[in-house]
Amino acid sequence: MSDIAVSENQSSPKRRILVSSALPYANGSIHIGHMLEHIQTDIWTRFQKMRGHQCISVCADDTHGTPIMLRAQKEGITPEDFIAATREEHLQDFEDFLVHYDNYHSTHSEENRELCELIYNRLNESGHIARRTISQLYDPEKNMFLPDRFVKGECPKCGSEDQYGDNCDNCGATYSPTELKNPKSAVSGATPIEKDSEHFFFKLTDFDAMLKTWTRQGHVQEQIANKLDEWFDAGLQEWDISRDAPYFGFEIPNAPNKYFYVWVDAPIGYMASFKNLCDKRDDLNFDEFWDPKSDAEIHHFIGKDIVYFHTLFWPAMLEGSGFKKPTKVHAHGFLTVNGTKMSKSKGTFVKARTYLNHLNPEYLRYYFMAKLSSKVDDFDLNLDDFVARINSDLVGKYINIASRCASFITKKFDGVLSSGVANHPLIVEFQQAQQTIADFYENKQYGRAIREIMALADKANQYIAAEEPWVKIKDEAKANEVQIVSSVSLNLFRILSIYLKPAVPAIAEQVEAFLQIPPLKWSDIDQVLEGHSINRFKPMVQRIDPKKLEAMIEDSKEEAEAASQPQLAEPLKPEIEFSDFDKMDLRIAKIIKAEHVEGADKLLRLQLDLDGVVKQVFAGIKSAYSPEDLEGKLTVMVANLKPRKMRFGMSEGMVLAAGPGGKDLWILNPDDGAQPGMRVK
Ligand code: MSP
Ligand code: ZN
Repeated sequence: MSDIAVSENQSSPKRRILVSSALPYANGSIHIGHMLEHIQTDIWTRFQKMRGHQCISVCADDTHGTPIMLRAQKEGITPEDFIAATREEHLQDFEDFLVHYDNYHSTHSEENRELCELIYNRLNESGHIARRTISQLYDPEKNMFLPDRFVKGECPKCGSEDQYGDNCDNCGATYSPTELKNPKSAVSGATPIEKDSEHFFFKLTDFDAMLKTWTRQGHVQEQIANKLDEWFDAGLQEWDISRDAPYFGFEIPNAPNKYFYVWVDAPIGYMASFKNLCDKRDDLNFDEFWDPKSDAEIHHFIGKDIVYFHTLFWPAMLEGSGFKKPTKVHAHGFLTVNGTKMSKSKGTFVKARTYLNHLNPEYLRYYFMAKLSSKVDDFDLNLDDFVARINSDLVGKYINIASRCASFITKKFDGVLSSGVANHPLIVEFQQAQQTIADFYENKQYGRAIREIMALADKANQYIAAEEPWVKIKDEAKANEVQIVSSVSLNLFRILSIYLKPAVPAIAEQVEAFLQIPPLKWSDIDQVLEGHSINRFKPMVQRIDPKKLEAMIEDSKEEAEAASQPQLAEPLKPEIEFSDFDKMDLRIAKIIKAEHVEGADKLLRLQLDLDGVVKQVFAGIKSAYSPEDLEGKLTVMVANLKPRKMRFGMSEGMVLAAGPGGKDLWILNPDDGAQPGMRVK
């Protein structure tokens, strides 16, 4: 383009980078704590892509394990249907938060099954798998072994009641579930028995030396390396990787009824998601990323609670099966709100969807960016600070630069920027900040990047304030100066937009439309818009209205209260209007005749009398009633249902019955006194 001056073209060798966030469990909704992770991953990925590297981000739902199996059972659906529904919800949440994954898969996939078997077989062949019999608590009613969290009883140390099988909330003691006093199964309420079973163990100890070296080679943050030293000092243990049927997961090869523990197939899910993507794209090759000799990078973003899995088990499994170990595991702390743990009763346990119902996703993206560091410390979302940072920095400093200058250009200069501004000292200064800011992004020192960027925004605003274009515009002789000031400022705004784009991609898109330029890349920093036409300025983001924040907190409280109310196994259908109900004509009907239907194994043919008018109905109640039980009874029918032609004749309505089916089916009976033909309303 002739109107773009290139001052310098900085190029760095192209890297191949695979990025992941931890796979969210499929048994719950995404909340803003999860978003702290996904947003920081997304910012890093977008930065790398803008730099021109081949950066691929993958994630998936973590779908296996006992809680998901039991949850699906309770809702009366298959685990497959259950996880499919959650995945849709999660995908929509991420999309609406502008979190983009190149692939979002599921751990319940063929790719994952194959990779799990491959990795297990290789570990087994190399002698890294041991077997021995252990004794565990077993629910004799449900016929299943009970995970620690599904046993409750009295703490063996302090005697406090209703404690989980692994540790006591009251005194903090940790113990094994067999030590609990008066244990009860949380699934059925039965008293568990102890039962023996053979389990499979991964010999983590075989990798002791490798891990001790690996953790000191820059693959983990220093805080994590120190934590790992404590674990090394305590001694590594063999890891129990099998669970007995019934279990929702993958069966272990050549071990009927033994399943991989969910934490075995979960991290392999990163590979499976990438494999699934490779199969869809010609330009990606699985082995080029996972071969130990490959120069591709693998980066995992995770929370501090799952460090053990990602920095000990996972690299050991990869090493033992001949795959590439992570280049870097980036651990972060937990999200707190106003200084305390997210709380359902305070309304600070905010689901992603609840946030989105009230607020712009880029507010949270910007705020997370502004305060994140490369440390593992917890992250506090302070609600007052949140409002202040968005309103004073994002809108008040950054967007303000464009809104102060744009209209001079569009109103006075036909929307065309000045030429000859490329060497303006401020533009040069803004360009020169690129390496510092890039290093902050690269090293996940996002907060420092934002401080640098906002310091530049301050300089731009000071420049505009000193030049006073709104005063000069009144003096025809100074028109040229106004055009220059505005053009310099809009170029500064453009550079800031590049710096901020990984955090606020939708704002950046609006900037691109406003400035009439193609999608901004990092290398565009060195370009300057001169003699270039721009569009009319439209406000790109509103200030936060604190009322919306309050409404979000209020909604979260209400959701938490509703969730703590007793729930129906079969949830209610969506609300209807009275007029919807009133369309139905329900009548008392007398069953004057009931008979078997030849060739139908579920149906009975009923003759229903509505005070002289007789209707024929085929009812699927044969499993629960014989014809002679029914004749002479009163029941309730839907009398205005459109007649339906069946193989056996016309069915002119429907009788109402309750129950799950089979023998457990009960037709409705009106109270004494109701007469055939009466309307039910
Ligand atoms: N399914 C496992 C991860 C398997 S990875 C192979 C899991 N799922 S999770 O849904 O509980 O958590 C997913 C990620 O979100 C984890 O990295 C976890 O640390 C993070 N967070 C969950 N709650 C969080 C906060 N309140 N704050 C910050 N991160 C949080 O663990
Ligand atoms: Zn206790």
